[in-house]
Amino acid sequence: MTAPNHGARHVAIIMDGNGRWAKKRLLPRFAGHKAGVEAVRTIVRAAGDLGLEAMTLYAFSSENWKRPEDEVNDLMGLMKRFIVSDLDEFAANDVKLKVIGNWRALAPDVVALIENALERTSGNKRTTLAVALNYGAQDELVRAAQAAAAAGEISEAAIAAHLDTADMPPLDLLIRTSGEVRLSNFLLWQSAYAELYFTDILWPDFKPADLQAALDHFARRDRRYGGL
Ligand code: IPE
Ligand code: IPE
Ligand code: MG
Repeated sequence: MTAPNHGARHVAIIMDGNGRWAKKRLLPRFAGHKAGVEAVRTIVRAAGDLGLEAMTLYAFSSENWKRPEDEVNDLMGLMKRFIVSDLDEFAANDVKLKVIGNWRALAPDVVALIENALERTSGNKRTTLAVALNYGAQDELVRAAQAAAAAGEISEAAIAAHLDTADMPPLDLLIRTSGEVRLSNFLLWQSAYAELYFTDILWPDFKPADLQAALDHFARRDRRYGGL
């Protein structure tokens, strides 16, 4: 891949469509989630090659608990395996892991695996991979507002400083796959001036070339931030 000239530092993706991908193939939804993890691997590698400093991936929302228990367990199992099996991959690609959302409320074994992975990747520098786990933007905003209030100041700067993404570059581009055109409680504050990109491609089919296409699109957009 060529040197980046798209200008984006931080891209976020709502990885949607695993279930429909499986359904099209007459496979159980689990097969779609498994294929979705494969897509994550490829896209994380591409993110570094495309010069992105940060990528935030929506893996499990605070509303996804509404799904059947079996599916929730499948998703948590895949998550655990991903975090453990990809530690070498993160090291090889200089990826620093970050987790956003209310992940400390997850099962103790998941929390322990996450803590270990955060520590093991803390020295990596090329790309930050933020995985949104048990994440909801409204929950994040309540937590940020509470922290800001406890510190004695509620202002835009103070709330921004207490968001889960406070140490990341501003969000440039938000992608959603699978044809749905909604944010589903993802990065509501951070999206204020992000460019939005919706594609019909189902997440397991999303390839580095599709990320490149989204970035090409981004590069052609005129970001005015309310000015001229
Ligand atoms: C996205 O795929 C993965 C998660 C939400 C965890 P879905 O499971 O939402 O797939 P569809 O939307 O049913 O196709
Ligand atoms: C959003 O997808 C959450 C993730 C991709 C993790 P959903 O499939 O849960 O969103 P809705 O229910 O279609 O809004
Ligand atoms: Mg969905």
